Amino acid sequence: MSVSFDPKTIKKDFPFFTNRPNLVYLDSAASSQKPQMVTDAITDFYTKDYANIHRGIYDLSEKATAQYEEVRGKVKDFIKARSPKEIIFTSGTTESINLVAQSYARKHLKNGDEIIVTAMEHHANLVPWQVVAKQTGAKLRIWDITDDGTLDSKELNKLLNRQTKLLAITHVSNVLGVINDLKWITQKAHAVNAKVIVDAAQSVPHMGIDVEYLDCDFLAFSTHKMLGPTGVGVLYAKERHLEEMDPWLYGGDMIREVTLTKSTWNDAPWRFEAGTPNIAGVIGLGAAIDYLKNIGMNNIRTHEQYLIQKAIESLGSLPYITIYGPKDIQKRSGVLSFSIDGVHPHDIAQILDEDEIAIRVGHHCAMPLTKRLGVAATARASFYLYNTDEDIERLVNGLEKVYKVFT
Ligand SMILES: Cc1ncc(COP(=O)(O)O)c(C=O)c1O
Repeated sequence: MSVSFDPKTIKKDFPFFTNRPNLVYLDSAASSQKPQMVTDAITDFYTKDYANIHRGIYDLSEKATAQYEEVRGKVKDFIKARSPKEIIFTSGTTESINLVAQSYARKHLKNGDEIIVTAMEHHANLVPWQVVAKQTGAKLRIWDITDDGTLDSKELNKLLNRQTKLLAITHVSNVLGVINDLKWITQKAHAVNAKVIVDAAQSVPHMGIDVEYLDCDFLAFSTHKMLGPTGVGVLYAKERHLEEMDPWLYGGDMIREVTLTKSTWNDAPWRFEAGTPNIAGVIGLGAAIDYLKNIGMNNIRTHEQYLIQKAIESLGSLPYITIYGPKDIQKRSGVLSFSIDGVHPHDIAQILDEDEIAIRVGHHCAMPLTKRLGVAATARASFYLYNTDEDIERLVNGLEKVYKVFT
């Protein structure tokens, strides 16, 4: 880790933590806090430079358009895509995946085709495929997890065949923290000519991503989990796939020519951004990327590995705690799901909340996975660049208190 990386200094960039100095925020997998730089970029746009984009020919509108399009280039560089034309702004991971489901999969899949999804998917990368399967007659095939919460490569070999047209997989599980070996998986899927869509909601904010290296066909993520505002997301898609995709939202901005009876479509990516987009949100995303790049994605990953190691050791030393997922920190992100013997996860969260420790409990929008783990819910602590050793110490003390209260 670079010597300049200090989470306590980083925390000072976040007004939220200055306003809540005693709060231990361990729910960044749900949504991250925002640095001043991001909120400033949004406020500056609204208070100094605001205008709609792509339409006006006056200076302000042209500048707003330039700012918006500049962020497309920043995203392209951030995930190492080939061209800004491969970057579509959406409202979040959920919309990005639904866009692929309806614009790509619904058009290309037919009765008898197969879609593989894993048992560790967030509902956002499961339900759209259930719907497409119903719409097209394709069959959903499930890649189950092993008992340690990882995906067994041998199982994928059994599932893939010439009917497989699509594999939908999360890069990092939002429950288990498991990092999937996408490079290998993509190679396997491409060998049978299947396309790969990656849910990168839990990876893009936390580690360097190279879509060209991973060779995935589609990749989706949300801005609000990576220090940016809510209501913005990204879909990366290989340009050749976008060329074959029809829009799924129709109206202003996505057209080339409209008559009273028919219309033609704009080029990608604008064809997929109908209506006035979240301009300020996209500008906020640009600032978030600048901030993350300045800190360094490798430094963030190293820091989170340090925190998860410490958390696994500390929580693992309490005999009444069960940790879900592998213990090997190379295989996992800064997400830690756990339970306490005989204590309902909701009670854990409530007692911790009394001491200003915010964790998430529930099924984490992955009901089939929670069921597969044999529980109704888990508690989840998730770390980010601003979390410190003290945060983990407060969590451990809080959990000891929870156990005492309930046993
Ligand atoms: C793995 C994963 N996929 C998808 C989503 C959905 O993201 P959003 O609600 O921003 O669309 C989340 C959010 O928690 C997630 O963790």
